[in-house]
Amino acid sequence: MTADILRRGRLNGVQNEQIVAFTSSMEADRWIFDADMLVDKAYVVMLSHQGIISRDDASGILSGLKTIEKDGIGVLDTSYEDVHIAIEARLIELTGENTGGRMHSGRSRNDEVATCIRIALRGELLELAECLVKLRSVFIIKADNHVDTVMPGFTHLQHAQPTTLAHYLLAHACALERDFERLTDAYKRINLCPLGAAAFASTGFPLDRDYVCKLLGFDALLENSMDAVSTRDFIIETLGVCSNLMVDISRFAEETILWSTSEFGFIELADAYSSTSSIMPQKKNPDISELLRAKTGSVHGALMSVLYICKALPYSYNRDLQEVTPHLQKAVGITKSAVSITTDMLSTLTVHKELLHQKSTSGFSTATELADTIVRVTGLPFRLAHHVVGSAVREGNLDFAKIIEIGKKVTGKNLEDIGLRKKDFLEALDPLLNINRRNIKGGPAPGECTRSIIERGNKLSDDQHVIQQRIQALDESKHTLDTIVDTFETHL
Ligand code: ARG
Repeated sequence: MTADILRRGRLNGVQNEQIVAFTSSMEADRWIFDADMLVDKAYVVMLSHQGIISRDDASGILSGLKTIEKDGIGVLDTSYEDVHIAIEARLIELTGENTGGRMHSGRSRNDEVATCIRIALRGELLELAECLVKLRSVFIIKADNHVDTVMPGFTHLQHAQPTTLAHYLLAHACALERDFERLTDAYKRINLCPLGAAAFASTGFPLDRDYVCKLLGFDALLENSMDAVSTRDFIIETLGVCSNLMVDISRFAEETILWSTSEFGFIELADAYSSTSSIMPQKKNPDISELLRAKTGSVHGALMSVLYICKALPYSYNRDLQEVTPHLQKAVGITKSAVSITTDMLSTLTVHKELLHQKSTSGFSTATELADTIVRVTGLPFRLAHHVVGSAVREGNLDFAKIIEIGKKVTGKNLEDIGLRKKDFLEALDPLLNINRRNIKGGPAPGECTRSIIERGNKLSDDQHVIQQRIQALDESKHTLDTIVDTFETHL
């Protein structure tokens, strides 16, 4: 390493390897290297635009940055504290201090790193949003294939009432729709520009913050310069979004684990999404689902870590904040891969329709409809009908004669005399009729599920459009910045 451009003025002596390894973020900064190149370019263009550095110096810096970008982070000196200072040191090596030494005018690594994280994160979140769109679409398509697939529904993991597989899949699709909304909403608070805040007190150089904000494709400024460098609320928010999303993924993963046991036997996962045992040759294990369940814990851990790091941290910048970024990077990466792996796992699993149908009435799952029917045809209050049917189930016998017998005991009336016919009784126990009757908004009746499928599909195309627009806006701003940077090259 040539003389350390950061420490040479104020500090004496070289730090030993242990201290460097403890303090440096070089490894984690791989995640923000591309973002930093963008930030440096836009910043230099703005400095020149404002006459803070000469156009010649800007040209020299921009061509040095191009070389650094081409060579990649791998050739940078890893003994520096972070990528920002390593890039600047390399720039000075390439262009001389009289040119490269001007890049950091009016800037601090505090506003620089905050800007880089936001740029790297917005790109990752748009990719995550695209993955989520695909996952939602598979849930919706599968639901459409299973509008008539009757299955048992559970509460407390006990057989509860019959439903359809479409209804179940739509429940997950609705949860993921909200996850998507949270994600796109968080994006609005992520895509804000801290650059120009400098260390925290802004700068006396006449920076044009709005111009550099636009060059970098941000939607607006993060105005207050102390807030801009201090806050990591957007990271906590993102991790909150990922945590919720992973809860939803883990609940589905858990169901694939349960449902593929021989006790349930509802589904079979594709071989690709299964493992076997090194000793028990017969085994087919749902390891991928188990890892989805476990990785959810890692994402929640990241949220907790960041909350604890940020809690009670005095304003403005503290080096503690450096420790936040790797948690974000890891959690977003896990969430993205979890969403895309769940998509393929869902689309390749096999559903055992006959067994689902067969099990849909076990555990007296039509008892609620029987109580409802008694209410509708006899006018008895629901609580009494509930008592009658509950007592019959307790005796393990849900036949017509038993209902009449218990009805007399509980109400003092013959239910047949007050309107309960055997036909009403039998219909109430039919799982298909149960489902067809549940045709109010959000219910499992096939017609209602089909309506919901269409609505979910329309919402999905709108959401897809929003994401494409955001991706396009970022591409355009990057293209504009590249074009401006090219005009500097011709100037050389
Ligand atoms: N590597 C640092 C981080 O990630 C960059 C900012 C360092 N600023 C400072 N004043 N030491 O937070």
